[in-house]
Amino acid sequence: MRLILLGAPGAGKGTQANFIKEKYNIPQISTGDMLRAAIKAGTELGLAAKKVMDAGQLVSDDIIIGLVKERLKEADCANGYLFDGFPRTIAQADAMKDSGVNIDYVLEIDVPDELIVERMSGRRSHPASGRVYHVKFNPPKVEGKDDVTGEPLVQRDDDTEETVKKRLAVYHNQTEVLLGYYNKWADSGLPGAPKYRKISGVGPVEQ
Ligand code: AP5
Ligand code: ZN
Repeated sequence: MRLILLGAPGAGKGTQANFIKEKYNIPQISTGDMLRAAIKAGTELGLAAKKVMDAGQLVSDDIIIGLVKERLKEADCANGYLFDGFPRTIAQADAMKDSGVNIDYVLEIDVPDELIVERMSGRRSHPASGRVYHVKFNPPKVEGKDDVTGEPLVQRDDDTEETVKKRLAVYHNQTEVLLGYYNKWADSGLPGAPKYRKISGVGPVEQ
């Protein structure tokens, strides 16, 4: 199974990815998680990306496309993959299409902007596993601790109200165009075209 999860910051891509990757036994390829790992490791890429991410802007297409192409060469992608937060621009989507990276389903998670800031301010993450919690909507069993490892949860640096608003604007300006891009491709019925499904992300996580 080869999937793309599309949706605004805070729509619940990472949250749903955790269920989907287990059900289909495929890796979650989250470019956001990969960049945060580079920041933590203090690499040159991480240093450059941190400034851009803290400003709520997008990291350059060349860097992101290079990262994903390398990631797809790894053995665990043989059975499929789940893109989370990628592609985010037409250039990224075209790069995948041009390199013959096939997609079975594009899943759009739809959540209105009004709900996003509250979701982000209460988010807590376990970076090593990608597990995501919310202090109110999806609390961990023990406050501040990951359910599986018991390790401390962290808040993301880009989850301040000001940066979230910038990220939403960037989503509407640069990423939302992909909804039409993939819808049109799906409707074309051409060989290799993905199927497109829009799903409401407003209900409870399990739903
Ligand atoms: P990235 O890490 O991809 O962030 P994002 O797309 O902004 O999305 P989020 O991770 O914030 O949200 P999510 O949809 O995963 O929601 P989650 O499940 O966590 O990117 C970060 C930055 O990296 C970008 O700004 C950019 O700078 C850079 N970057 C990354 N990829 C890039 C690319 N391809 N090109 C260029 N730059 C790139 O849920 C959010 C909260 O809501 C959680 O607390 C969760 O518990 C809660 N929640 C989830 N579902 C529900 C529900 N149904 N009801 C109530 N609460 C819920
Ligand atoms: Zn995420």
